[in-house]
Amino acid sequence: MHFYFTATLICLVWVASATIIKRDPSRQYYTLHFPLDEAATQHHAKKIAASLGTRYEGPVGELKTYFMVSSELPGVVKRSSDQQVDPVLAAFEQQKENGALLKRSADDSVAWSKVQRIDKQILKRRSKRAVIPRAPILSSGKLVLEDAKASLGIKDPGFTNQWHLVNQETTGNDINVTSVWKQGVTGKGTVVAILDDGLDYDSKDLKDNFYAEGSYDFNDHVDLPTPVLWNDYHGTRCAGQIAAVKNDACGVGIAYDAKVSGIRILSGEITDVDEAAALNYKYQENHIFSCSWGPPDDGRTMEAPNGILADAFINGIENGRGGKGTVYVFATGNGGDAGDNCNFDGYTNSIYTITVGAIDHADRHPSYSESCSAQLVVTYSSGGGKSIYTTNHGNEECTDMHGGTSAAAPNAAGIFALVLSVRPDLTWRDMQHLCVQTALPVDLKDKDWKQLPSGRMYNHKYGYGKLDSWAIVEAAKEFKSVNKQTYLELPVEMNKTAIPDSTSGKHKKPLQSVVQITEAMVAAAGLSRLEHITATVNIEHQRRGDIQMVLASPNKVESELATVRLGDSSPDGIHNWKFMTVKHWEENPIGNWTLFVYDEINADSTGYMLNWTMTLFGEMDPGFEGEPIHRPDVNHDTTNDGTTSVIKPSSSATSTQSKETHAPARPTRVKPVTTTTASSTSKTVTTTTSPASTTPTSHMDDDEAVSPGGSAADKDDNSDHSVFIYAFVGTAAILGLATAMYLHKRKDWRAPSLPRQTPSTAPIASMDYEFDELKPEEEDEDDHDDYEEGESSDARPLLSQQQQDQHQQQQDR
Ligand SMILES: *[C@@H]1O[C@H](CO)[C@@H](O)[C@H](O)[C@H]1NC(C)=O
Ligand SMILES: *[C@@H]1O[C@H](CO)[C@@H](O)[C@H](O)[C@H]1NC(C)=O
Ligand SMILES: *[C@@H]1O[C@H](CO)[C@@H](O)[C@H](O)[C@H]1NC(C)=O
Ligand SMILES: *[C@@H]1O[C@H](CO)[C@@H](O)[C@H](O)[C@H]1NC(C)=O
Repeated sequence: MHFYFTATLICLVWVASATIIKRDPSRQYYTLHFPLDEAATQHHAKKIAASLGTRYEGPVGELKTYFMVSSELPGVVKRSSDQQVDPVLAAFEQQKENGALLKRSADDSVAWSKVQRIDKQILKRRSKRAVIPRAPILSSGKLVLEDAKASLGIKDPGFTNQWHLVNQETTGNDINVTSVWKQGVTGKGTVVAILDDGLDYDSKDLKDNFYAEGSYDFNDHVDLPTPVLWNDYHGTRCAGQIAAVKNDACGVGIAYDAKVSGIRILSGEITDVDEAAALNYKYQENHIFSCSWGPPDDGRTMEAPNGILADAFINGIENGRGGKGTVYVFATGNGGDAGDNCNFDGYTNSIYTITVGAIDHADRHPSYSESCSAQLVVTYSSGGGKSIYTTNHGNEECTDMHGGTSAAAPNAAGIFALVLSVRPDLTWRDMQHLCVQTALPVDLKDKDWKQLPSGRMYNHKYGYGKLDSWAIVEAAKEFKSVNKQTYLELPVEMNKTAIPDSTSGKHKKPLQSVVQITEAMVAAAGLSRLEHITATVNIEHQRRGDIQMVLASPNKVESELATVRLGDSSPDGIHNWKFMTVKHWEENPIGNWTLFVYDEINADSTGYMLNWTMTLFGEMDPGFEGEPIHRPDVNHDTTNDGTTSVIKPSSSATSTQSKETHAPARPTRVKPVTTTTASSTSKTVTTTTSPASTTPTSHMDDDEAVSPGGSAADKDDNSDHSVFIYAFVGTAAILGLATAMYLHKRKDWRAPSLPRQTPSTAPIASMDYEFDELKPEEEDEDDHDDYEEGESSDARPLLSQQQQDQHQQQQDR
């Protein structure tokens, strides 16, 4: 417990100031508060410290009105009846009150008249053992609000409008945060970086919590993320949700004593290099990265952070936050109405990001919020006629029009800031475990809720449910960090098996591929507790949106990996795409897993399955010794009907050991610069298996794509050598190809100048629900239009060429 206390303090001091006071766990710390910042204050503080018999330690960070003093921890605690008396507090009380009776020097008297209060630090920090203040049974949201205002001194005029904090209309439909604040847990010591457009750090509501050292503008390459464009307001709104100061402007942030950095990437062009740098920017000081953007949510895009960007995420989780891992929070996306699914977005379906969707004030699913099996949790945002009230750009400006999954991600980031302020030592995976363990299922009438073997509920629209600030902070206090990650990887060669048509007939016959997982494999990988599962899939298909995929566990839990996307007519197929699911968290993996692949909608477009790899990630058994075997040596086998392939454990499961030393490290992912078209795929697809030598119509291979001859080296995919060589070639290639990629891709991945609410008439069919054309002066009206349309919301900013082009057109007009 001392550890948390100490860690929090060190963290605080380190963030706030260069003044670092070495902490001694055998001492008790107190702060003295002098409301007036005067020249002699430090002198007064020393006087008080002396007359209390304590040691003067120094000022607290950059706060000029707080000073730290300390005393030895009392060896034997004296009790009067059953009440423990703190000698320093008692002495303070006594000397402050009875000053007139004590013989004091004039100097001492002045000091005593200036000091306002003393706070015992350890009590505040040691919330783990502290008794949670028993809130009065507050039957209605109104009472909760009044109680919070009174007990916490919240004077922000907009607080009453922040229904996501305290819902006065429907009691309980909020993030349940006031009892957390009342414990003194307000985000202190945590820094959240907002990767977005500008951040109005001059705003009265943000300036005291703005962390300039963690901020940067990657669009204009200057130090501060100043909003410049007329529509640079999104980052400011997100920052307000997280850390709007408790003052008399607007509302309050969820973690109103946390700090926010602004990392400006969405207000213009950035390169992959910039984006990679942004994803790791000051990642020792910026603890949480809140990201409300991604590839277009148009129901037909399929893009992932490959190459340098993939490495930036791995670097973040391995080295960020002193090795505990950057906490990346991503919005699921607003493509729900366009039939999009967050498993087709490589940012949201990454195991390294916490994927957060939206619910509205009625605890319902707003239609814009994307579903998928990679979604972990949901939290509040717009829909059903209400949006989020938060800070706006411009001094003391507020808005009640913030929404979309764009607003859900920062709300989650704010809650995670509260968690880290109590337990800064938690890892990126601990945070995901806490989400799984404490989320509350909502809207239980929804048919997709499924009771899992763990006893928890999961729903592709809601993940494990909504975040409850109180529940997650309480659980965090007691949480035992999980052991390091391991994985078990099982490649299946499908030898280009045709995917049967599923469009007609009652009995759909999907292509089935079975992977048998044995106790021995799990033991050899050291896997003790299952977390994420990825399925890396290679399919050639004439119409990508027709493919539907379900992964079924031995316990009959079904994850929707790929859903039909009507708008996706791409002939490019699926190349080394990692679908991800969190639905099997803590399930027993032993038994037969089946991947079902359906070909829906259009009978005349067909395809083949080339191969797939199931990877189970999870906690390594703390008692495991030796080298884990991540890729057991298995025999591939196909049943005679050609539609089922099974892999079985071989008798010599220990013969192959991967050279990879830590879990998430894979051969680097790069996009080859060559592209081939799908024209070689004939219209009529044969239904028998054919040799695996066919070159895939790939331009997006992201694994191992740089070995000479492309797929030539794949045959012996269990070979020790091939893994090793891939890793080597991949590593070399990333250096070599970084430049090529930079040149090749800079046009593809720069951010739009109009990251959201794109005022364009250029038709993006699936996105017209979002906005109408607007001029800068009409911004507010536009917001209102959105609002009246109900569930449509502000879009997640997009990172695409398309948007860029539209912006160009718009400017040209
Ligand atoms: C909200 O917080 C209170 C503690 O103040 C807790 O008792 C309750 O279980 C939490 N969750 C809900 C849904 O009320
Ligand atoms: C799993 O698959 C293997 C291989 O097809 C089969 O022999 C075994 O009976 C299956 N196990 C279960 C529990 O279905
Ligand atoms: C699957 O096939 C693709 C395309 O041919 C290839 O790039 C990849 O390496 C293969 N993966 C496995 C695990 O065999
Ligand atoms: C795939 O083809 C190769 C080479 O023809 C063969 O060795 C292997 O057993 C086949 N695998 C399956 C699953 O059919």
